[in-house]
Amino acid sequence: MMTSHEIRRHFLDFFRSKQHLIVASAPLVAKNDPTLMFNNSGMAQFKDFFLGNGTPPSKRVADTQKCLRVSGKHNDLEDVGFDTYHHTMFEMLGNWSFGDYFKKEAITWAWELLTEVYKLPKDRLYVSVFQGDSTDNVPFDQEAFDLWKPIVGEDRIIYGNKKDNFWEMGDTGPCGPCSEIHVDLRSPEEVAEKPGKDLVNADHPQVVEIWNLVFMQFNRKADGSLEPLPARHVDTGMGFERLCMAIQQKRSNYDTDVFSGTIHVIEELSGRKYEAGTGMADVAMRVIADHIRAVSFAIADGLVPSNAKAGYVIRRILRRAIRYGYSYLNLTEPFMTKLVPTLAMQFADVFPELNAQRDFVATVIREEEISFLRTLGTGLGRLDQIISDLGEKGTKEIPGETVFELNDTFGFPADLTALIAREKGLTIDETGFQKALQEQKARLGKMQPHRQVTGSNWPKPTGLSLLATTSQKPMRIL
Ligand code: SER
Repeated sequence: MMTSHEIRRHFLDFFRSKQHLIVASAPLVAKNDPTLMFNNSGMAQFKDFFLGNGTPPSKRVADTQKCLRVSGKHNDLEDVGFDTYHHTMFEMLGNWSFGDYFKKEAITWAWELLTEVYKLPKDRLYVSVFQGDSTDNVPFDQEAFDLWKPIVGEDRIIYGNKKDNFWEMGDTGPCGPCSEIHVDLRSPEEVAEKPGKDLVNADHPQVVEIWNLVFMQFNRKADGSLEPLPARHVDTGMGFERLCMAIQQKRSNYDTDVFSGTIHVIEELSGRKYEAGTGMADVAMRVIADHIRAVSFAIADGLVPSNAKAGYVIRRILRRAIRYGYSYLNLTEPFMTKLVPTLAMQFADVFPELNAQRDFVATVIREEEISFLRTLGTGLGRLDQIISDLGEKGTKEIPGETVFELNDTFGFPADLTALIAREKGLTIDETGFQKALQEQKARLGKMQPHRQVTGSNWPKPTGLSLLATTSQKPMRIL
């Protein structure tokens, strides 16, 4: 069986053989882009090249990019752990043409790699093309259709709408029609019952998109209009963990060797076996195996858990994992920190930044765990009480002030309270929570004497955050 290391290497070697320059992943944390908190796709670090605002190191580039989809337009957080193929952090294998080759090469090479190098069965692959959109005045992608037809046959082509087949990195920025490749990983019996084509884009865990070929032609402007780009480009992104699932013939990303090492450590720490099922202990193991990657790589890339912006997203992800371990695996002592060495070793040659800082990363995570575990048990007890009181009153919504109190006193981020509430069939009053938060900010603001902060008297970062500060590095060529 091809290992995940071999799968990644074959991708990079394949595009190297097609004259692509192989570059390193950009950090998870998006730098110098106010429209983005985290890199949510392989193309984010190349945005300027698409817009014509910079010169790429080569007209053909390929890499594996660490991506995080936990905020903004692309947010998969709520699905993680409950399904088998969404992640917070994932790797996106990508090849790019900056004003060089276009649809023909992108399509032909994608098919060659999948069927000749990875040997995925042709009769389990489906492709989609953009059906066109009259509001944006973008026509049906006849060119992609004509290229795919002799390769896969017309009956394997699906027509996709703007939601599925017009890729945009955010509310503004480079975009264009895309052609996706989907794979059907079901058993022959399941395939005989229902054709895979009917399950494409239907959230079936074994019929999943693996590769998205985007043909960048436009810039979405703030007023919603599309402006043609100075040149036409290719941006492809293949979900590495899903690709491993397909090649290794598994039914879940978590059954591949990308996750099995970490799951094994979780099994040892909890004394429970991972059954790959839908019970909460298995969900918890998947959540933990997923979240430790996002948190560790984000810290290695210069973030620390904090109460603001990107640091708060990392804190929320980490606390979500700690609570799953505590509630469903009885992990009441710091455990996330113990997963770091295995992860660092696994990725030492791909993303060496984690191995280089593994003690630091493990320390930051341990400190955060100690601090949250101190209040977690009491907070959960308080929340249980609140939920039972609400039940007696027949109310299904946790009031905003209560959500605020849990946040303020016990360090429960609102989305964690929402998650626990959802498990019990309740919701939270998000608006009331935001109001209580703003009121507290206003109160604190009144208590602090106003101080003019300029560049030179901005408080210097201290302690851990100073250690973790990294500056924007030039693109690393491998
Ligand atoms: N930008 C596209 C995506 O993220 C292809 O790389 O799916």
